[in-house]
Amino acid sequence: MDGRAARARRPVGEITRGTTGHNRLRRSDRWVAEVCRPLLLSADRPLVVDLGYGASPVTTSEMFARLRRVRPDVEVVGVEIDPVRVAAARPHERQGLSFVRGGFELPVGGRPLIVRAFNVLRQYGEAQAWEAWDLLRSRLAPGGVIVEGTCSEIGHRAAWVALDARGPRTLTLSTRLSGFERPSDLAERLPKTLIHRNVPGERVHAFLRDFDHAWDVSAPYGAYGMRPRWIASVERLAGRWPVATTPPLGGRRRWRLGELTIPWQALAPDRP
Ligand SMILES: C[S@@+](CC[C@H](N)C(=O)[O-])C[C@H]1O[C@@H](n2cnc3c(N)ncnc32)[C@H](O)[C@@H]1O
Repeated sequence: MDGRAARARRPVGEITRGTTGHNRLRRSDRWVAEVCRPLLLSADRPLVVDLGYGASPVTTSEMFARLRRVRPDVEVVGVEIDPVRVAAARPHERQGLSFVRGGFELPVGGRPLIVRAFNVLRQYGEAQAWEAWDLLRSRLAPGGVIVEGTCSEIGHRAAWVALDARGPRTLTLSTRLSGFERPSDLAERLPKTLIHRNVPGERVHAFLRDFDHAWDVSAPYGAYGMRPRWIASVERLAGRWPVATTPPLGGRRRWRLGELTIPWQALAPDRP
């Protein structure tokens, strides 16, 4: 193979830390299984990618099991840029679940309906994260969705952006409510394209400030537990911000989970 051919086949991206763990991405799996259910059910060939699955393929296997409950013939491909991690994952392949080496170009033999990338872009620069979004969006099947986010070590706190072919559509915050202190604690989980914008003058900063205020004034609901307090805070916040209040993205059923979704446009920073 000449140098040009070798370069052409080089996956787009860089090998980064491979930290992962059992059930770490349960919150985003649940969201995909419920919010993307109509998409999964209507597709001729539901192809899903878990991009950058890390040192072990556990999150991909869990996603596969959860989405098979929605669509028994869903095909899930774990894409990882580190060939050692791909070799380690291969023994876990089974009907409908496979692992390939690749990067943001998504070498999966078709256009995916859903691409989940968690804790991948945080290790890139902000401008690179926007470029990765552009490339991933260009690979989607019609109507397809990218779920790109970040979570804490064991997945109790997470934030993710859903994008379609046109661009980012929503931001979702999701947290375990036991041990939760304040909404602005979730700032450290913001995706790369937002995390550096959490400064005065930026919309995401104003949003988290107002969410903290709503949380503070909803303190009396804490007497009934953290869940009622979260729901009361989100309802109050929805008076000032265009928080999703109806299914599939909003409403009490989702808020009970310690979740909130807001249109991206409400928070969108200027692109660098
Ligand atoms: C921190 S791990 C995340 C593992 C898993 N997604 C999770 O959240 O538990 C990030 C993984 O993404 C991989 N990665 C980074 N850039 C990539 C790219 N462009 N394409 C595919 N994998 C990539 C890294 O090699 C690493 O294994």
